[in-house]
Amino acid sequence: SRTQIGIVGAGPAGLMLSHLLARAGIDSVVIDLRSRREIEQTHRAGILEQDSVDLLVGTGVSARVHRDGQRHDGIELAFGGGSHRIDFQHLVGASTQLYPQTDVFVDLADARERDGGDVRFGVTDVSVDDIVSDSPVLRFTDADGVGHEVRADFLVGADGSRSLCRREVPEAARTQYFRAYPFAWFGILTEAPPSAPELIYNHSPRGFALISRRTETLQRMYFQCDPAEDAAAWSDDRIWDELQSRVGANGHRLEEGPITSRTVLPFRSFVQEPMHHGRLVLAGDAAHTVPPTGAKGLNLALADVHVLAQELERAVARGDTTPLTSYSERALRRVWKAQHFSYWMTTMLHTLPEATPFDVRRQEGELAAVTGSTAGSTYLAEAYTGWPQGR
Ligand code: DHB
Repeated sequence: SRTQIGIVGAGPAGLMLSHLLARAGIDSVVIDLRSRREIEQTHRAGILEQDSVDLLVGTGVSARVHRDGQRHDGIELAFGGGSHRIDFQHLVGASTQLYPQTDVFVDLADARERDGGDVRFGVTDVSVDDIVSDSPVLRFTDADGVGHEVRADFLVGADGSRSLCRREVPEAARTQYFRAYPFAWFGILTEAPPSAPELIYNHSPRGFALISRRTETLQRMYFQCDPAEDAAAWSDDRIWDELQSRVGANGHRLEEGPITSRTVLPFRSFVQEPMHHGRLVLAGDAAHTVPPTGAKGLNLALADVHVLAQELERAVARGDTTPLTSYSERALRRVWKAQHFSYWMTTMLHTLPEATPFDVRRQEGELAAVTGSTAGSTYLAEAYTGWPQGR
């Protein structure tokens, strides 16, 4: 069979792209190795930039974001025995929205189903071929065991940080940038009331902790840990001791409850350039990964496909790949700014395993410089709430 755009990956990037293309009258087929249920049950980040909210609401994906989400006008940076608010509204006139990625996914999957989009979950044997020809092909076996071969004008790899599509670009045609970190996040969900109205990014000599939220009865929290940590080995009591001692150092106290989910999240920075080869384009985590501090991953993926939809519209109309180069250049400008911001937030707030007392006091000095100055906190507020999308 034939489609205009073949998309590998039905996460937020792939589904949003398919939705935006449909609005421009361009048809697509989206496939994913995972089942819909599997994706729905993978906990991810929870913060949307203002422009991500506008994209979801403005293009008719979700009316739920405003109703079920929660607007946040600032964050707390806790360090050195105290807590300091970064006031986004005051500094840059913007806010963020607490709305979990799993809900973004559900809204997008529902919207594609409502609009008659062709989305296949739970496929196997995925391969892409002929990417440097005018007629690249996507092959897969659907959930009923039927094999398919779909010819397309262009293919998009929106297949996440372990992307198969990314590997189709020959080594000589791409550059990979990578950075590892000697720590990870221990993430939990707890059935407890909120501990604070806004998110707390907590620096402490024992390491970083992030107090986020989900609902009035369910909370999301993270603390810096060893990448090799075994999440199952931790009792609820031990987790609460660790969290309380980290936030307690800065005067906060957490509401405790049963811990219903615990996972260790990997930490890395990664970019593959350029974000296309022949008629294959990469979007979202397939092309770049950021460490989670600052919640840029999902927002970057949405920003990618916002630009990609515009450029694919041109590419389909012209029948050539020039707009894909333009997409890669436009997307990468934002990607590298987000790489810097995520790296900066991470290194400012986490404690290196070999940190000396000097290193910890220097970080407190950096945090004091940021929170104590309008210039310093304005950069944080601007980057956190997000640079304009679709440009
Ligand atoms: C969440 C995750 C983040 O990485 C972050 O910086 C803020 C919030 C979250 O899951 O709620």
